[in-house]
Amino acid sequence: MSNTLFVEVVPSGKALGAEIKGVDLRTLSTEAFGRIKQGFHEHLVLTIRGQDLTDPDLIDFGKRFGVLEPPGMSIIGKPYLDDYPDVLVISNLKSDEGTPLGNLGDGEAIWHTDMSYRDVPCSAAILHAWEVPPSGGDTSFANQYLAYETLPHDLHEKIDGRIMVHDETYNSGGQLRKGFKEVTDPREAPGARHPIVRTHPVTGRKSLYLGRRRNGCILGLDLDDSEETLERLWAHATQPSLAWTHQWRKGDVLIWDNRCVLHRRDAFDPTARRMMHRVQIRGELPA
Ligand code: OGA
Ligand code: MN
Repeated sequence: MSNTLFVEVVPSGKALGAEIKGVDLRTLSTEAFGRIKQGFHEHLVLTIRGQDLTDPDLIDFGKRFGVLEPPGMSIIGKPYLDDYPDVLVISNLKSDEGTPLGNLGDGEAIWHTDMSYRDVPCSAAILHAWEVPPSGGDTSFANQYLAYETLPHDLHEKIDGRIMVHDETYNSGGQLRKGFKEVTDPREAPGARHPIVRTHPVTGRKSLYLGRRRNGCILGLDLDDSEETLERLWAHATQPSLAWTHQWRKGDVLIWDNRCVLHRRDAFDPTARRMMHRVQIRGELPA
């Protein structure tokens, strides 16, 4: 049983992120889990290396954070794992017939937060590495509390109290979700509308909540103004001083807070194998 005495929290030294050491996620005591949860709220992204979780193990660990949320629509129009519809597979691998075995392929996944196109987006996602390429496919995270706190005054004035469109059409790898049509006018994109600034329900801190750039749109501004404002906001929110990058090893588990963190993934060699399993935790209405 992993017990609190042995739980070590080692901050990345960057704007966010910490590694948790000394735990086996399959056998966490209540106290050890409490320490992890505390580390999660302090550091926003946690890495736990050397884990060997089956899907039921990953699901059980996810449920300690809350109720699991089924993933967004995959590119094949159904869950990847018949037995575990709450688990999303992220992979570049394909079946012998050429059907993708997971989302996102081998290309770059642009900066985004998960499932913000839903009215109630997930609060956190947990990603477990089953297979990783020898290099490439690193995942970066950016602290959106700091992005909000360091916003230039004029941008703050411009966005204060405003609502944004969060398009559902494409995933972060630029893949069209099954059943969706191309969007020509972002003001009419299908997907949720959320405040640009949200308050974290646990920490009480405010953060920028941008979703993803593609087809993003600030309601109440004309389209050119919205585009220009979004360009500035995204450049600010993803600057290197707010970010930290994770290099994956097989067995890693990463947990990130989707309410106050953006993430992106580098492309990798298409002939390499990368396979991750993910669960998402149900969140709350952004406010
Ligand atoms: C995700 C995601 C990044 C990665 O699972 O939401 O963006 O490293 N994945 O595959
Ligand atoms: Mn993502």
